[in-house]
Amino acid sequence: MLNGKNILLGLTGSIAVYKSIDLVRGMIKEGANVTVVMTEAASRFVTPLTFETVTGRSVHIDTFESPLSHINLPRDTELFIIAPATANTISKLASGIADNLLSNIYLAYKGPVLIAPAMNYRMYENPIIKENILRLEKTGVKFVGPEAGSLACGEEGVGRMSEAGDLLEAVRAAFTQGDLSGHNILVTAGPTREAIDPVRFISNRSSGKMGFAVAAAALKRGAKVTLVSGPSSEHPPQGASFVSVESASQMRDAVMQHIENSTAVIMAAAVADFSPVSKSETKIKKADSISIELQKTPDILQEVGGKKGSRILIGFAAETGKNTEKAKKKLKDKNLDLIVLNDVTQKGAGFDVDTNIVTIIGRGGEITDYPLMKKMDVANIIIDRMLQLKMR
Ligand code: CTP
Repeated sequence: MLNGKNILLGLTGSIAVYKSIDLVRGMIKEGANVTVVMTEAASRFVTPLTFETVTGRSVHIDTFESPLSHINLPRDTELFIIAPATANTISKLASGIADNLLSNIYLAYKGPVLIAPAMNYRMYENPIIKENILRLEKTGVKFVGPEAGSLACGEEGVGRMSEAGDLLEAVRAAFTQGDLSGHNILVTAGPTREAIDPVRFISNRSSGKMGFAVAAAALKRGAKVTLVSGPSSEHPPQGASFVSVESASQMRDAVMQHIENSTAVIMAAAVADFSPVSKSETKIKKADSISIELQKTPDILQEVGGKKGSRILIGFAAETGKNTEKAKKKLKDKNLDLIVLNDVTQKGAGFDVDTNIVTIIGRGGEITDYPLMKKMDVANIIIDRMLQLKMR
């Protein structure tokens, strides 16, 4: 897959650098030409000789080895991957500091960049680092990892560099133009919470897993993704623009704010259908019985259907029982292109599991039943079905 590709691998000072040896081997095995540039700190963890041996090429460290190496080295480069990337290097790149050969090259290079961070979890959680990563992402830099697990310092947390196999997959993906490239996909996910008082709310059992899987699959296939989600313990996929909301009305506002540039909208959220007419400002005291008056929440899907234009609109229908007639009516009433029906009473389908059993119904009334599948596979099928429709 990587036959003849010129890849520049940047190494910075982290113990994770040992994993990059396998990454180099993997890339070379697939036919890539790999050149390594390392920082002084990286050379403390592993000698340049190691990488000279595995690449069969000179390893570059010194900015002054030749006055123009930072311009000449990246000239034929088709992908610059920095793995491992320390907090220090990420922050330097985010602010344009060029104080070693690697950071000079980064500034002079115009092609795709892939960064695999490696650091202690507290460093990764530092708001400055988060901001710097976001800053780089906004300029088009792609990130892979870090992963959760035990760290070199003996602590547990998110900060481990991804394994060589995952890095290799990210490298391959960087060379594959996804079938959704050029598309902006807006996805809703998770439940909503409708406040009763400062401590209580009405919600549902949705985990957000289905919507997050759709967002991750669309990103992998090259789309730009905005994920609007209610409270969920899932991690937003790397590269998605993430909007966190709580209530149905906040979700409605976020969707309307982001709909303009979207080419497709996939609404997997389990939006609460009712919310309390008024929220008590103080905690409601115990009583023998109370009544809470509920009112209908905004039907976001219906509203989007009304201003659909040429974009693709896909809704979900969570039903208790396989009610295809009701789903067909929803598809028609809400002006959808596809509706994904799942019977939440079936084992392995619906809320809080990693699998789903769905039936997809098209505008022409065509019904396709799918077997039990991982939510990620369901997500890819939804995208395949979407691509079969005409996209704007
Ligand atoms: N939906 C929405 N806004 C709401 C309620 C639902 O956008 N206030 C969307 C969901 O994201 C989903 C679809 O509508 O894509 C269907 O949700 P579902 O709860 O199954 O159906 P409802 O339209 O609420 O109808 P009913 O509960 O009567 O089946």
